[in-house]
Amino acid sequence: MLVVRGAQGIGKTALLRYLESSATAGQLLRASCVESEMELAYATLHQLCVPLLDRLCELPVPQRQALETVFGMRVGPQPDRFVVGLAVLSLLSGAADGSPVLCAVDDAQQMDPASAQVLGFVARRLPAASIALVFTARGRTQDLLGLPELELTGLGDAHAQVLVNSARCGGLDQHIRDRIVAEAKGNPRALLELPCELIGTQLMCLHGKTCAGPLANRVDQPVLAGIEELSEESRLLLLIVAAEPIGDPTLVWRAAARLGVTSAAALTAEVDGLLSFDVRVTFRHPHVRSAVYRAAAQQTRRAVHQALAEVADPHDDLDRCAWHLAAAFTEPNEAVAAELEQSARRAFARGGLVTAAVFLQRALALTPDSSPRAERAVAAAHASVLAGDLETAKRLVDFMGIDDRNEFLDQLERGCSVLAAVPFS
Ligand SMILES: Nc1ncnc2c1ncn2[C@@H]1O[C@H](COP(=O)(O)OP(=O)(O)OP(=O)(O)O)[C@@H](O)[C@H]1O
Ligand SMILES: [Mg+2]
Repeated sequence: MLVVRGAQGIGKTALLRYLESSATAGQLLRASCVESEMELAYATLHQLCVPLLDRLCELPVPQRQALETVFGMRVGPQPDRFVVGLAVLSLLSGAADGSPVLCAVDDAQQMDPASAQVLGFVARRLPAASIALVFTARGRTQDLLGLPELELTGLGDAHAQVLVNSARCGGLDQHIRDRIVAEAKGNPRALLELPCELIGTQLMCLHGKTCAGPLANRVDQPVLAGIEELSEESRLLLLIVAAEPIGDPTLVWRAAARLGVTSAAALTAEVDGLLSFDVRVTFRHPHVRSAVYRAAAQQTRRAVHQALAEVADPHDDLDRCAWHLAAAFTEPNEAVAAELEQSARRAFARGGLVTAAVFLQRALALTPDSSPRAERAVAAAHASVLAGDLETAKRLVDFMGIDDRNEFLDQLERGCSVLAAVPFS
């Protein structure tokens, strides 16, 4: 018997699936608890027992009738939970006579209370051999208390790096990957999603699109409400950290000073609960960064990027300067666009495919004249294809008004002659 516990995205379901696939012999009984069924008494138990229903006839009559009643197979008075528990014990023991049985219950924090009570009872009484009952849960579930627990705590840094590299938005610069690894704290879902989120949120917001997304609900409502209640200085500090992709504390404080924000005014206990100042400044909760960036007014975001562009050292970090400057601009500007194109070349040479694609998309948006626009559109589409972002590539090809989109994308993928005039050829 085991309860696998851990935060959302830490890998509980993945571990359960791995366990199921490793159990090659015997019978597998599965249940996945969903919030919408929490009110339905015995919903999880029913899911779990469906494959065993033809064995009900083997049970003593009171136990059989109890299960038939709670599963809605007969009409009768609500049976005693103790009898239901004994019936499930008998059913599982009968099924395990001869070959092992693995019962896998995912998301037990959403289990209906009647099932939780019965399965907790069963788990404490199951014979040790031949039946395994494994639950996953985000937190502690009252009825499962006292059962052996395995707390998942996330991946170590080396494995986290491997996972970030495997994310669909791979090809990020190493220093951005380092920050993601620091912020994700070994959480596999965060490691897979943050690379896209970090870049995607900024891009979406820069293009003036709605900044909502599936990740918005990854941040608890109270956390978001708490951020709204912070002072203007504190919120500005959070926004500076959110907009600065590396988490360089010196740069963050220089930009803060430029915007008139002092540490005395901005650093409150609440901010301390959200940010961690170390070699890097990181958000304690990996998705708060995007939430902060999304929540800010466009004008404030621009002011923050402007300040970051001004304080970044152009000799040390030309690319960061170019990016912030680009984010601060709304009007087309060839000088800024050309800077970004150069940054894209450098990123590409370093293997930062996503960064290169993002730089080029932004360069395109800021290019005033049609001839370089066409070139940059092709280059941006090419870089997007190479970075594995086909959606963006398709949008760019449509924007260019090319008739046979698929053929063109194929050519881009193969790096064909169409790219001859383009920076990445
Ligand atoms: N050890 C691992 N190595 C690589 N990827 C992993 C690992 N563990 C989990 N993942 C991936 O991370 C993501 C989140 O994992 P999973 O769905 O198992 O989390 P969870 O703990 O069940 O989350 P929730 O509480 O939301 O149900 C999935 O895409 C999964 O494939
Ligand atoms: Mg899960």
